[in-house]
Amino acid sequence: MGTPQRRRSNLDYASGQLMTEFGLRHLLTIRELDRLHIEQILSTAEDFLPVLERPIKQVPSLRHITVLHLFYESSTRTRISFELAARRLSAQVVNFSVAGSSVAKGESLLDTARNIQAMKVDLVVIRHHSSGAAHFLSQHLHAGIINAGDGVNEHPTQALLDAFTLRRSFAKLEGLKIALIGDILHSRVARSNIYCLTRLGAQVCVCGPPSLIPVHIEALGAKVTYDVVEALRWCDVAYVLRIQLERQHVGYFPSLQEYADWYGVHEQAIKQAGRRVPIMHPGPVNRGVELTAELADSSQSLILQQVTYGVAVRMAVLYLLAQQVQA
Ligand code: CP
Repeated sequence: MGTPQRRRSNLDYASGQLMTEFGLRHLLTIRELDRLHIEQILSTAEDFLPVLERPIKQVPSLRHITVLHLFYESSTRTRISFELAARRLSAQVVNFSVAGSSVAKGESLLDTARNIQAMKVDLVVIRHHSSGAAHFLSQHLHAGIINAGDGVNEHPTQALLDAFTLRRSFAKLEGLKIALIGDILHSRVARSNIYCLTRLGAQVCVCGPPSLIPVHIEALGAKVTYDVVEALRWCDVAYVLRIQLERQHVGYFPSLQEYADWYGVHEQAIKQAGRRVPIMHPGPVNRGVELTAELADSSQSLILQQVTYGVAVRMAVLYLLAQQVQA
């Protein structure tokens, strides 16, 4: 990937002109994104955020763009957030769910994709249970592809909205310490966040039972601890991750209660650490397992703030990629 020229976000959404040069056609991973691209997405999201506070929460920027949401896996936040983001930009939106589609008759992802291409969509937002599905589509479609979560690989827009939330909560990300606590092994959110946060100069520590920490994760730039209290004592922000039972095909821990006691973030662990740091979580939360309901709903929780900012970040991603597919 070439080094892009940094250009300030140049939102001319009132006229519907796509003015800002971004240089990327797809958003598939954070791993392949450099710091300038990340900064450009975050600063564009900053420009879009006030739109969401207006009585009329819409700008005409993408009225000539068609966005397809292709969801092969369940989603609440990402799906609604992308749909709202596209509608706030006046794009035409088409939603695809596996249930009720020809996937149930055995149609492959490639055949589905080719049929979609024949219908001339501009951007495809895909969530899929297979790692690499977004990359695969990018090799077969002319449309710009946005990865909304692929298997255990990456969830780029989640990491971007998390960085945006941190940037709005703290003066700077440089040197900020974030502990990712939970099921790291099955977490595409953890992987994208490690890439994104370290690229922005933050320090990352991963924490969980040894069976749920991937070997060699240090090579990505993260410290490792198996002690939640130690992680809470070290960090400026505790980013708690869901136990992904649907991806666990063997027993990685004895019971949910044992996990909650030893690796859950709860009042006792916070007291032992002696620090009450902000708490983040990508959702959905398994209340009482990786995080107590009291802490999820407490004033130290940034969870709903993450969701709010997600719309502005996804508006920025759609806006910046749309100019490439139009070029
Ligand atoms: N954070 C996230 O991806 O949530 P959903 O699965 O509800 O989209």
